[in-house]
Amino acid sequence: MEELLRVTNLKTHFFRPDGVVRAVDGISYTLNKGESLAIMGESGCGKSVGVMSLIQLVRKPGRIVEGQALFEGRDLLKMGKEEIRQIRGHCIAMIFQDPMTSLNPTLTIGKQITEPMLWHNYAGRQEARERAIKLLAAVGIPSPWQRFTEYPFQFSGGMKQRVMIAMALACEPRLIIADEPTTALDVTVQAQIIDLLRRMKEETGTSVLMITHDLGVAADFCDKVMVMYAGRVAEQAPMDEFVERPCHPYSRGLMNSTLDLGRLKGRLDPIPGAPPSLLNPPAGCRFHPRCSEAMAVCSEKEPELVEVGPGRKVACWTAEKEGCKN
Ligand SMILES: Nc1ncnc2c1ncn2[C@@H]1O[C@H](COP(=O)(O)OP(=O)(O)OP(=O)(O)O)[C@@H](O)[C@H]1O
Ligand SMILES: [Mg+2]
Repeated sequence: MEELLRVTNLKTHFFRPDGVVRAVDGISYTLNKGESLAIMGESGCGKSVGVMSLIQLVRKPGRIVEGQALFEGRDLLKMGKEEIRQIRGHCIAMIFQDPMTSLNPTLTIGKQITEPMLWHNYAGRQEARERAIKLLAAVGIPSPWQRFTEYPFQFSGGMKQRVMIAMALACEPRLIIADEPTTALDVTVQAQIIDLLRRMKEETGTSVLMITHDLGVAADFCDKVMVMYAGRVAEQAPMDEFVERPCHPYSRGLMNSTLDLGRLKGRLDPIPGAPPSLLNPPAGCRFHPRCSEAMAVCSEKEPELVEVGPGRKVACWTAEKEGCKN
């Protein structure tokens, strides 16, 4: 398979008066054409900052301090303002976690969906209008031709989320970054959106980076998964193997605390404790204070992300010693 994106040692820090928040602290991964990667991990572990860095959307006091993000061989992090603007929306589209802040309240929905198509010379005015209405229908907005002329305040939260998704799909991007795209939606619409993304993937070979807390959605849609913990990568794996046999103790904890599995087992096992402060993360493995399998070395030395099988990497001393057990 052809490689689309290669991220190497990406570090994005926030320089605050009280210290440096190491939100993303050296993550690496690859994504092939037509592939989809789920990014998972608890709140605050750097998922959003990690993907926003790719299209240079991190604002001060945040700054990318290190790393490379090769998209079709070109480093996104080195691009100038104009160059990255050409990429955004056209080659790479993002569905934001918070649709309320990303729609312009003063422009009609129609204008907001057609504008990128016109701006990127993807379509002419009439064609763009027809495509926008088609997309609104595809994301499940009733009476799309009428809705086309309305403003964001006339839409519910879930509908705005769907409009954002229509906007992201408008120019048939080669990469869609979806930051919890379906959290605000009810289950039926959620399934509809996943279906739409799947069709996009099949028809146009789009790749998807999907941040989600929903293991069911991730397992259903994504080919592979990356688990993040406190700004670092804990584990990377093909999705089917991950679901069958998560390797990192944190991944197992994450899985045992999700609703899907909880429902099966009849109970949830939350991970004890809370994620560490990224101002001053613990020494050694950042997960060790919460890990039931921690050994002496875990508090002293940070484990490297090592390969334990094809497409499978884990940063954990237990896995390094004994391979991926359970
Ligand atoms: N503007 C900012 N200034 C300082 N710290 C920030 C800023 N934006 C994000 N951070 C910090 O960066 C870390 C990562 O944030 P991020 O939004 O990527 O988390 P996340 O994994 O997407 O969480 P969630 O699941 O809640 O969306 C957090 O600890 C957050 O406090
Ligand atoms: Mg987030």
